[in-house]
Amino acid sequence: GPDPVLILIEVGPRDGLQNEKQLIPTETKVALIDKLTGTGLSVIEATSFVSPKWVPQMGDAQKVMSAIYRKPGTTYPVLTPNIKGLEAAIKSGAEEVAIFGAASESFSQRNINCSVDESIERFGVVAERAREAGLRIRGYVSCVVGCPYEGHVDPEVVARVSHAMLSLGCYEISIGDTIGVGRPKEIQAMLNAVTKRVPTSQLAIHCHDTYGQALANIYAAVEAGVRTVDSSVAGLGGCPYAKGATGNVATEDVVYMLEGNGFSTGVDLFKLAAVGQWISEELGRPTGSRVARALLAK
Ligand code: HMG
Ligand code: MG
Repeated sequence: GPDPVLILIEVGPRDGLQNEKQLIPTETKVALIDKLTGTGLSVIEATSFVSPKWVPQMGDAQKVMSAIYRKPGTTYPVLTPNIKGLEAAIKSGAEEVAIFGAASESFSQRNINCSVDESIERFGVVAERAREAGLRIRGYVSCVVGCPYEGHVDPEVVARVSHAMLSLGCYEISIGDTIGVGRPKEIQAMLNAVTKRVPTSQLAIHCHDTYGQALANIYAAVEAGVRTVDSSVAGLGGCPYAKGATGNVATEDVVYMLEGNGFSTGVDLFKLAAVGQWISEELGRPTGSRVARALLAK
């Protein structure tokens, strides 16, 4: 029969660009999203409706959303930390939003300026309004193996926060190794705890590649039954509140690994590598995708 489907969530335009120091022209962001749409990706996280005082790079969220081409069947989710962000996202015509919490108190404070419990309360209000407006809602949990401020994170805490986010009505929880410190066995141990509270079919894995472990960790998660993977074209990215965190795993590398392991991603790898090359040139650096470098050198 046909290869089993692996869903890729492209986070490059959001997670990839949010940490860039120089303000990137809106038209470049729009061109990136439109080019990604042409590669066959079915989910492209487009931007964040966050405070421009906290993340200036995402200050043009409204403009980005009104300029992109929205291909039927492709979704363009956006981040919404609070009601203000949600209302702006609704106005922009977003069909899916994401709330983002953490399994670490210090990271929650630095990233969204409230405690974990306060965030769940705040997200509850956001989720209810999103549901009223007919939007799908996704949840992120950051720092699922390590925190830049607290070090080791207890898998039981990850399970508790993930379950709390699911209970708010999220259709999926993306568990994030924000600073890329995890290793495959740690990822599996953490998943073991989380899947006791959240069905594997409702989990996504979100790996930053700071320590070069992202592909191995994704493979471990897929072996454990996870079928949705977040990644960023050309390996762009980093979190402004996780010092030293590098980009997400490169989408090109994930496509190469998983297509070669019997999964269907629906993505044209050569087109994607060209898009990664293009945005890297725009940003004045080499692509962070090893697969793209190899393919384009041929
Ligand atoms: P706060 O300062 O407590 O919020 O920040 P506030 O309600 O006191 O508002 C402060 C000012 O911001 C006000 O403006 C608000 O109007 C404005 P003023 O009255 O001073 O002129 N404001 C907004 N403006 C536009 N859109 C909004 C908004 N909200 C407030 N939505 C807040 C709290 C949550 C807003 C802030 O901390 C924030 O924006 N944080 C976002 C940080 C962020 O974007 N981090 C990166 C994304 S998370 C990530 O990358 C991890 C992930 O990839 C997974 C992983 O890797 O683990 C998802
Ligand atoms: Mg991230």
